[in-house]
Amino acid sequence: MSKKWSTKLIHSDVKVPEGFRSLNTPVYRASTVLFPSAASASDEWDQYEFGYTYGLYGTPTVLELAARICELEKGYRTLITPGGQSAISLINLALLKAGDHILVPHSIYGPNRLFAGHMLKRFGVEVTFYDPNIGGQINALFRPNTRLVWCESPGSVTMEVQDVPGICEAAHRAGALVVLDNTWAAGVLFDAFAHGVDISMQALTKYVGGHSDLLLGSVTAREKDIFDRLGAAQQLVGLAVSPDESSLALRGLKTLAVRLKAIESSALELGRWLAARPEVELVLHPALESCPGHEFWKRDFSGSAGVFSIVFRREFSKEKVLGFVDALELFEIGYSWAGVTSLATAYDFQGNKNRPDYGHRIVRLNIGLEDVEDLRQDLARAIATMH
Ligand SMILES: Cc1ncc(COP(=O)(O)O)c(C=O)c1O
Repeated sequence: MSKKWSTKLIHSDVKVPEGFRSLNTPVYRASTVLFPSAASASDEWDQYEFGYTYGLYGTPTVLELAARICELEKGYRTLITPGGQSAISLINLALLKAGDHILVPHSIYGPNRLFAGHMLKRFGVEVTFYDPNIGGQINALFRPNTRLVWCESPGSVTMEVQDVPGICEAAHRAGALVVLDNTWAAGVLFDAFAHGVDISMQALTKYVGGHSDLLLGSVTAREKDIFDRLGAAQQLVGLAVSPDESSLALRGLKTLAVRLKAIESSALELGRWLAARPEVELVLHPALESCPGHEFWKRDFSGSAGVFSIVFRREFSKEKVLGFVDALELFEIGYSWAGVTSLATAYDFQGNKNRPDYGHRIVRLNIGLEDVEDLRQDLARAIATMH
């Protein structure tokens, strides 16, 4: 049909050459997805079963990222979420109802603990927080209505490595599912499904993104039934994901192996060096014996990442510890981790009976890609200012 120019702005007849190929997944942006006929239009969330229906459920860029994460984690299928925290809330919202009971370790990422302790309790879910080093005693915590056990290994800041296979065995005997926050291991240094986990989630914001400039999460299910419950909930909660962010995460994946290798080597070298410093009481690095649960890291992990904590000796006041962080020049101060820039963050567990007795003396380090000798000198200089 003949068209006015203003219609041509919307319905153009131009053709561009076909056959373009590049090494990168195109960024497909869309809310509306087109159907070939009136009868074929549907709003089903499962794009694998029904084809593409609506941008909320992922354009090909987002689904490519999902499939790549699933390939690495060796699950059934993966959902991408707008961030790590939304992956956490999606799992809880999809799998729990009023009257259910869940187990959450004290060492879990702070907002995950708050979601359970505030939001879930408000919706009538019973929550028991447990010691991440609990071992076989976890058996005693199960109730007839226990549906879910959360694990995070190593735990946030205090870095306890958990006996995930042992917890999975106990949970499955009790008829509960196990969810693992597998962010520290980047979904590759710990094989969640081989160790019995039912759902593995990651903040892709961290090692997969790798450059401190995006927020995304992933939820990977062991089997179809769990994936279907998660996918249906994602539709209802409306967790839309940006294809631009997904494109950055796909780019991050390409260098994940070399980044992890370099970061592992620097973090281990600095962790060992810090352990020998008289000012440092404890290095909480999963690959070092001084870390609670180190034996589980040795048994279950294929490598280590670049985030670990140090605990200064008791004689150092809070001001001295904060002064150490402020004196660092290459280590920047900021939350989140796993980017190429080294970071240092001081924490204070004073008065928290559920965390180890590290008080104000604990500092978490994120090791980046700077020269390791420069980082060591930065740490040495900052430690010297504590005297
Ligand atoms: C272990 C862990 N899980 C989940 C999250 C949440 O990820 P996001 O910041 O992408 O929401 C974080 C963020 O710090 C984290 O450290």
